Amino acid sequence: MIIAIDGTTASGKGTIATRLAAKYALPHMDTGCLYRATAVAALNQGVALDDSAGLAAIATSLDLSKFRDSELRTGEAGKAASKVAAIPDVRRALFNLQRAFATQPGGALLDGRDIGTVIAPDADVKLWIDANVEQRGFRRWKELVATEPGLTLEDVIRHLRIRDERDQLRKDAPATIAADAVLIDTTDLTIDAAVEKAIAAVEAVL
Ligand code: C5P
Repeated sequence: MIIAIDGTTASGKGTIATRLAAKYALPHMDTGCLYRATAVAALNQGVALDDSAGLAAIATSLDLSKFRDSELRTGEAGKAASKVAAIPDVRRALFNLQRAFATQPGGALLDGRDIGTVIAPDADVKLWIDANVEQRGFRRWKELVATEPGLTLEDVIRHLRIRDERDQLRKDAPATIAADAVLIDTTDLTIDAAVEKAIAAVEAVL
């Protein structure tokens, strides 16, 4: 079974993905980490965020074990990730890795923006997770403010809007809802309630 979970930043997508992967004992790839790691490596090595060839070279030889989770999770890494993710050569460089993970024997669960549309259009279950931008901003602000004091909620919401727009308007693999995806709006749901809905969508095809 292949489960594809896409959606917006801070929608609850990551938590839902982790819980479903555990419940169905599926290997899980958080594909946002690939773009975040590419961006962080570029920033560390002084490679410009619009240098297609330089970024593709980094993406091709990416070793995720070299990155600490905390350095990939910063607001800065997320913002830079959405810039490098708009570059077709970077997406091409990361495609095979994701496709191989998705098609491994025994199945897999991947979360990202283009799993149900580009990486695994053949997925058995596709979910699109979203919530309104104010709610997502509040969740992300709570996560980041501990390590980034001085960060305001307004700033977080403004940056989310910019990222949403960049992800949705890019030409190559824009973040779009697959025609056969089940939509889950988590704005007014607890994480447990959102996970229940996701499980119900999986059970419907089992
Ligand atoms: O999901 P996460 O916030 O970690 O993703 C960071 C950025 O990576 C997103 O804003 C998006 O631009 C990019 N991304 C993507 N395709 C994916 C996963 C993430 O373009 N499959």
